[in-house]
Amino acid sequence: MTHAAAAVSRPHRGTIFLEDDATIVSQEAFPGDQFILRVNAPRTAAAATPGSFAHLTCDAELPMRRPLSIMRADAAAGWVDILYKIVGPGLKLLSQKRPGDRISVLGPIGKGFTPHTERPRTLLVGGGVGIPPMVFLAEHLRERTDAKWTPLVLMGSEIPFPFRLKPSTVLAPGIPDGVIACMPLLEGWGIASRLASFGDFPGCYHGYVTDLAADWLKSLDKEVLGEVEMFACGPTPMLQAAAKVASRFGIPCQVSLEEFMACAVGGCAGCAVRVMTPEGPAMKRVCVDGPVFDARAVFPE
Ligand SMILES: Cc1cc2nc3c(=O)[nH]c(=O)nc-3n(C[C@H](O)[C@H](O)[C@H](O)COP(=O)(O)OP(=O)(O)OC[C@H]3O[C@@H](n4cnc5c(N)ncnc54)[C@H](O)[C@@H]3O)c2cc1C
Ligand code: FES
Repeated sequence: MTHAAAAVSRPHRGTIFLEDDATIVSQEAFPGDQFILRVNAPRTAAAATPGSFAHLTCDAELPMRRPLSIMRADAAAGWVDILYKIVGPGLKLLSQKRPGDRISVLGPIGKGFTPHTERPRTLLVGGGVGIPPMVFLAEHLRERTDAKWTPLVLMGSEIPFPFRLKPSTVLAPGIPDGVIACMPLLEGWGIASRLASFGDFPGCYHGYVTDLAADWLKSLDKEVLGEVEMFACGPTPMLQAAAKVASRFGIPCQVSLEEFMACAVGGCAGCAVRVMTPEGPAMKRVCVDGPVFDARAVFPE
């Protein structure tokens, strides 16, 4: 194989860093066993892109790492933020780490989201622990100057949101009346966000976040729809619903998949999923070929 061919078939080589002495900066607890972890991992922070993730050791006693999305990255300060919800023993152990403790971080991993300048009205849809990559993508778009990016971030959760809800002052025309609760972090950046839940949370849309997305899309005329691109991360049924909504309104959609991961660096093929490519169906590794894929490629109609 030529050098060029090797680079094409293994594009992740040389871009994933092992930071064995990453130091915990802070760990904040939220209701519903949710945590925001800030960890000093400068090389991961410098190379992270929206949609990429890190593979973390949760404790020295636990050999298997856990894949977690990067929610924010500050290259200058050298930290990354991660939002997670305890599922089993790994994340339980991670939640017990305190500032100053050290963990091993492998990252950043994966092919993230690719927004297109001809569609600057970005619709970001995050469900549960699919919220973090949407925050990263929103912050990234806010900093880009190559188009008039206007992100609208819609988030769904059936447990309390891992932030204090507040009424938004950033306009979001087309969002149903009364749906005013937002994420303060995004609000502070001047980015419109709205929340959805079947729970009884004030100011939230009562229903699925993808139905809120459909309601907003319904309010747009054809010309404006032509400028919209959708990005989604969350549980598989939510991604399937997002793909259907995108197809109904004729807009492109990128989805971030979750799979059980062993190595997370493309070596074991344990995370392979069937994806439709221009050459026909193929098996792709979620860790390094994804986790972001075109919605039509993973959920063909
Ligand atoms: C690309 C990617 C990004 C993710 N981002 C986040 C995030 O930002 N926040 C968050 O809370 N969760 C995220 N997850 C899910 C998270 O990795 C699992 O919830 C976590 O590994 C569970 O570990 P545990 O020890 O607590 O649970 P256990 O159930 O004890 O885990 C047992 C094993 O299963 C694996 N595993 C369990 N659930 C999953 C899963 N859904 N996906 C992949 N491996 C799993 C673990 O790695 C471990 O090897 C992400 C998963 C992937 C693949
Ligand atoms: S987890 Fe090993 S190839 Fe993806």
